[in-house]
Amino acid sequence: MKNAMASGGVRVRLTGIRRVFPVLDDAGRALRGSGSGVVALDGLDLDVAPGAFVALLGPSGCGKSTLLRLVAGLDRADAGTAVVEAEEGPAGAGGARARAPIAYVFQDAHLLPWRSVLENAALPLELAGAPPEERRAAARAALLQVGLADADARYPAELSGGMRMRVSLARAMVTRPRLLLLDEPFAALDELTRSRLDDQLRALWAELGMTVLFVTHSITEAAYLAERAVVLSPRPARIVADRTLALPAERTAALRTEPAFAREVRALQEALESGGA
Ligand SMILES: Nc1ncnc2c1ncn2[C@@H]1O[C@H](COP(=O)(O)OP(=O)(O)OP(=O)(O)O)[C@@H](O)[C@H]1O
Ligand SMILES: [Mg+2]
Repeated sequence: MKNAMASGGVRVRLTGIRRVFPVLDDAGRALRGSGSGVVALDGLDLDVAPGAFVALLGPSGCGKSTLLRLVAGLDRADAGTAVVEAEEGPAGAGGARARAPIAYVFQDAHLLPWRSVLENAALPLELAGAPPEERRAAARAALLQVGLADADARYPAELSGGMRMRVSLARAMVTRPRLLLLDEPFAALDELTRSRLDDQLRALWAELGMTVLFVTHSITEAAYLAERAVVLSPRPARIVADRTLALPAERTAALRTEPAFAREVRALQEALESGGA
């Protein structure tokens, strides 16, 4: 059920994306000439519908993080376009189009150790110049959503790894992003914590309806979370499978033991293997 905080998602369209990283010589200069660059992505097309939850799977080094960074605008493609559909500006803004709010969650929580949980969660709003009361209220609401309402005065060093990741998720959600990019966010956590956070993430998505791109190495995590799974080949990443997962919208622990779940996991496994992973 979508609530009043629901922001909805934006469409993401990648067309003919190519990204080549220069190989540097000992002096740090880019080597020139054919074959001297690391081709991470070459001619990649991907269209993600607004509000979709898409998992990206692929072998280590194939270009998944590169892809997310391009979508986030943290890096530029050498060819092709990465479009995150912009929002219409408010009426009377002269047709100005704002960039859709995007949030990025990394594998490590990346919290500021000298700031409390509340101050960490409020950081994006502080950077955006929101008034103190407003950003504290929004940070409290986001911490409540990730089950950390009681921890707001604590400091990162006092938290478990799973709690830190939840603060990181709250910090991402505080701006009510319309696109949430997650790069192996729960990979370093134990299995139980990871599946709890998977459930929380899926619940946030069901409630708020943002578009989610989720990079993971775990086939079962991809099948459990996503509606669509895109499997990439070794570098340069090309799409070897693009599956709409035939699973119920309600994801519970019991689903993991169902034959339909096993079928999806097997199909994704085969796609990874056929791609040369
Ligand atoms: N800034 C950079 N400079 C040079 N090469 C880079 C840079 N970023 C990535 N690469 C190279 O591009 C390729 C793709 O890297 P990327 O980090 O996107 O892979 P990945 O799929 O996220 O891998 P992993 O699953 O291990 O995180 C790799 O060969 C990597 O070495
Ligand atoms: Mg990566």
